[in-house]
Amino acid sequence: MTIVLGSISGPALVIGATGYIGRFVADACLDSGHTTYVLVTPGGKCPMRAATIEALREKGAIILEGRVNGKELIEQKLKEYGIEVVISVLGGRNILDQLTLIDAIKAAGTVKRFLPSEFGHDIDKANPVEPGLTFYKEKRRVRRAIEAAGIPYTYICCNSIAGWPYFDNTHPSEVPPPLDRFQIYGDGNVRAFFVAGSDIGKLTIRSAYDPRASNKTIHFRPTCNLLNMNEMASLWENKIGRTLPRSFLTEADLLSMAAENVLPASIVASLTHDIFINGCQTNFDIDGKQEIEISDLYPDLAVRTIDECFNDYISNLNLKEDIKGNLKEESSPTPMVERLPVPATCA
Ligand SMILES: NC(=O)c1ccc[n+]([C@@H]2O[C@H](COP(=O)([O-])OP(=O)(O)OC[C@H]3O[C@@H](n4cnc5c(N)ncnc54)[C@H](OP(=O)(O)O)[C@@H]3O)[C@@H](O)[C@H]2O)c1
Repeated sequence: MTIVLGSISGPALVIGATGYIGRFVADACLDSGHTTYVLVTPGGKCPMRAATIEALREKGAIILEGRVNGKELIEQKLKEYGIEVVISVLGGRNILDQLTLIDAIKAAGTVKRFLPSEFGHDIDKANPVEPGLTFYKEKRRVRRAIEAAGIPYTYICCNSIAGWPYFDNTHPSEVPPPLDRFQIYGDGNVRAFFVAGSDIGKLTIRSAYDPRASNKTIHFRPTCNLLNMNEMASLWENKIGRTLPRSFLTEADLLSMAAENVLPASIVASLTHDIFINGCQTNFDIDGKQEIEISDLYPDLAVRTIDECFNDYISNLNLKEDIKGNLKEESSPTPMVERLPVPATCA
């Protein structure tokens, strides 16, 4: 494979653009002005997926139909469109499909940067309990295959998406924080980094085209968004104007949910344990050579704060009047409103 190193300005291909994290990445790629191809799986789509594809098309995305595991097709598209950046945002079930993608990238020879589906923790450093560990082992296998193939890469470790970190939800930011009671993990004093989805998208694209991020692991650690669960709960209580009861999920509770091995819930439980009991986002230093903190790349960086994200939930839920009405019923054990999925505008 011949790869010309140096600056990158050519087209990007986003694989998994209709997914939870993928939408933010594809939107940011389009906003950045780079020609953006998105690979979507063929066949009938549920209305929500179809609407996402249509919105991407309207924004300027060029839609390609195909599956990531179709090597010949991917290789041909990479060559035909001169794709220089490939960003995979495939979900947990498809991590190992990226091995075929790596073969296609290697054979095409056009790609100057590959970002595999990571978008969480540093999977070489973190050691969650099972079944999270098996998930990480698959991601590690993909890293090793990229490195063996000599494909220039950037590994994005964006930590937690901004929102209430529900232990039983793979897309936690799509649900507003609790309105009835908080479930706090452990003693609630272990901190984690929370990054808005729009910032994950924006910073991923900046890194993808940045020569300084070549063959580096990029960590998103915005100090303004380093919070523990007790602090998150107090912040939300301030927004809704009332205090909520707190119950505690112990380390043993999370471990037993992980041990049930019901996928994907048990993976989320094992990662929740790793974050809020083990402190996996903060228990290591970044070496500044192979691993770079995003604010070292972009010192002028301004990210959305958790406070701003929580404001979005309030406006999306149109809660303000309800809150006023319910302030008088503070002792009521019933939630002010049902927990509803809302569009993840902030995260
Ligand atoms: N940091 C965090 O808080 C956080 C939270 C969630 C996820 N993540 C990470 O982010 C990454 C993406 O996860 P996600 O939850 O966003 O994924 P997701 O919502 O499940 O989306 C997966 C995407 O992959 C596409 N896809 C599936 N099979 C495909 C195939 N064979 N060929 C091409 N495309 C295919 C899907 O398209 P179709 O719908 O057309 O199948 C969809 O667009 C993962 O690495 C995950 O671990 C991080």
